[in-house]
Amino acid sequence: MTLAQADAAFLTAEFRSDPWPTYRELARESPVYFSPSLNQWIVTGRETVAEVLADTDRFSNYGWELARIRRFSERDQARLGALVHMCSTPVIVFSDPPEHTRLRNLVSRGFSPRIVDRSREWMADLVADLMQDFSARGSADLVRDLSNPLPVQVIARLFGAPTEDTELYKQVSTARVQFQGSPVPDFGIALKLNELLVEFRSYLEALVARLAANPDGGLLSSLIPRSGDTDGLTPDELFHTCVVFLSAGHETTSALINGTLLALLTDKRNLSILRADRSKITAVVNEGLRWVTPVQRVLRIATRDCELSGQRIPAGSQVVAVLASANHDAEAFSDPDTFRPERERHANFAFGQGIHTCIGAALGRAEASIVIDSLLDIDTDITIPPGWTPQWVDSISLRSLTELPVVFGHPAGPQ
Ligand code: HEM
Repeated sequence: MTLAQADAAFLTAEFRSDPWPTYRELARESPVYFSPSLNQWIVTGRETVAEVLADTDRFSNYGWELARIRRFSERDQARLGALVHMCSTPVIVFSDPPEHTRLRNLVSRGFSPRIVDRSREWMADLVADLMQDFSARGSADLVRDLSNPLPVQVIARLFGAPTEDTELYKQVSTARVQFQGSPVPDFGIALKLNELLVEFRSYLEALVARLAANPDGGLLSSLIPRSGDTDGLTPDELFHTCVVFLSAGHETTSALINGTLLALLTDKRNLSILRADRSKITAVVNEGLRWVTPVQRVLRIATRDCELSGQRIPAGSQVVAVLASANHDAEAFSDPDTFRPERERHANFAFGQGIHTCIGAALGRAEASIVIDSLLDIDTDITIPPGWTPQWVDSISLRSLTELPVVFGHPAGPQ
């Protein structure tokens, strides 16, 4: 594969279904590569990915989404008021120190180990409810029926909102992820996202007012400034943070769950091992994180002209750290495209690295573990229909299945 072929591949469905050879070719030939088709510097070398993530002076998290919006005409931008306003407000994942330090400290209140631990029981109940709906039916689409609804129900519950509200949450998160993940900014998606943001803002203001009067000790409640709190999140920051939770916590966790289930159901030996010893679920989730790498790439903006692995990067350039490539590096992981939970080395980039390392990692892991644990409780065989082939969502950033059909068969025999 030549570099030109690799570059052309980024825009194709084949690349979505199997990005690994392209990334490995780039890592070998040009680990820091300027892609004319994406207008981005694509960083695929494992060490260099780590370098980009560690260097917040040279590589900023602020403004890349705004930069995408600025590619629309001024007339179009004028129709995106809510989106522009939101993206102009620094938020935990789209900010640099010192703002990031302040925002991360405030947001960390909502992710205390106590909140995550306390949630395990009701998360298991949510999974049981979802599974009850389909296991009696004899078949399911594990994306539609399980991996997609669960994370958004979890976020709604952490916000102190009823499950009925999740439809709006789902729409906001999907539109945001679509906007961020289209190779070239798409005005139609931006416009839809803008409309949803207007609706979500008024919804959230009402919810925040209720929680301010009656705090419930949950995630959203803990982020609302208390009286006398002079440095709490402003209303704009609180709104943007909530939207980030949706886009960062919904489709990512769904992708981890559906990708890991795909691996388990494709090679049933893994399921048998788990049935015999459930303590291995942790290793399975770790390998799922590496193998799927739900967030395939993260974006930074070069703050100044600089050099990276011998390439001159002009100030203002978009620099993409490809986590997927670092996680499928053949030197770090033997036979990297194969799902092997028994790997000794699990250190991987799925949650990023450095100051922006995922704050919801424990929550995402907990959801995936609970789902696997609950599936193992099902007393029949679970099979993917013969002839079915995986289809991946149309995003260059998110690696997630569009569907995962299964049928529930005969009682599982002795393993
Ligand atoms: C398996 C599921 C998940 C994956 C694979 C994942 C992945 C990531 C990655 C790669 C980053 C780093 C972004 C960067 O460096 O620019 C990140 C940051 C973040 N994630 Fe997650 N995430 C997951 C689940 C969640 C959940 C459940 C939440 C919350 C509800 C969440 C909230 C966040 C936030 C707020 C940040 C920004 C942290 C900061 O900038 O300091 N994530 N996530």
